[in-house]
Amino acid sequence: MSKKILISGVKPTGTVHIGNYFGAMKQFADFQDKYESYVFIADLHALTSVQDREQMSESILNVALDYLGIGLDPEKVVLFKQSDVPEVTELAWTFNCLTTMPYLMRAHAFKDAEAKNKEINVGVFDYPILMAADILIHDADVVPVGQDQKQHIEYARDTAEKFNRIFGDTFKLPESLILENVATVIGTDGRKMSKSYGNIIPLFATHEEIKKAVMGIVTDSSSGVPENVYNLHKLFRSEEELKNLYEEKKGKYKDLKEALIEDMESFISPMRERREKFAKDKDYVIKLLSENGAKMRAKISSKMEDVRRKIGIKID
Ligand code: ADP
Ligand code: TRP
Repeated sequence: MSKKILISGVKPTGTVHIGNYFGAMKQFADFQDKYESYVFIADLHALTSVQDREQMSESILNVALDYLGIGLDPEKVVLFKQSDVPEVTELAWTFNCLTTMPYLMRAHAFKDAEAKNKEINVGVFDYPILMAADILIHDADVVPVGQDQKQHIEYARDTAEKFNRIFGDTFKLPESLILENVATVIGTDGRKMSKSYGNIIPLFATHEEIKKAVMGIVTDSSSGVPENVYNLHKLFRSEEELKNLYEEKKGKYKDLKEALIEDMESFISPMRERREKFAKDKDYVIKLLSENGAKMRAKISSKMEDVRRKIGIKID
């Protein structure tokens, strides 16, 4: 039996952190043998917030290196750039015409932006539909993401159902893959780790950066166990292993933080080294993306022909 199809992507919007890793990216690596895997750099989605040529180009290359650094094997996973398959925007437009405004106004990300009185561009509003196109164009079965993306996968399913209902069976309904125990990794201040909160620990942090971030973790002094330190620590060691340590070092926050620094360093350093190796050969990475982009574009062409025929714009 052929393998099921996995698809996912990360936006090139800044430094990847351990929340991104444990919440979503680690699964790409863990599942690369189990599924036929396609992992992309969501540059068109990033354009909703990154509007600076240099920053965009640099971040694209960085996400590619991050993927290679976490151990995605280019022989097993097709790594590509979203914008190299421009048909996703055509498909997103097709979906736009089947989607109502009130339906998109219910999206959490849109509602949050509105509640914060942010200036909302049409790309932000339409974000879930482009994401639906990313997923559906490749006939994905599973989409590993963090908890905050769950609603987007539901939008993709709804959109597939609606298209299928109007034009006939065309798209598979994808499932989200969300690891419950790490659905939300907390940051150094105890809130959700997020680039926008300034509370991250970079996934490829240097030893100094790890030290600085861990020493800056907010601790409360009410119990002997510093909750934020513990919550991060359990990403790197089993609770069983931590039990003794946290009992023995009860109240000794500095010692516990030092133990966390050591565990993080042993976890991060092999990935950091792998990433550095690829960073020395940027030409290889650029070539890989461009070849894979062309491959992916060829791969989806019959799907798009089918869509065009179904909606009636292909008449030859
Ligand atoms: P950020 O919130 O830092 O901007 P992104 O929105 O770029 O992160 O998220 C990229 C991926 O990482 C998504 O699949 C998202 O669900 C996941 N993710 C982001 N932050 C966390 C977190 N703190 N815990 C778990 N998963 C996360
Ligand atoms: N919205 C996702 C994020 O913020 C990135 C993304 C874009 C994505 N298209 C996708 C993830 C398709 C999975 C599948 O992380």
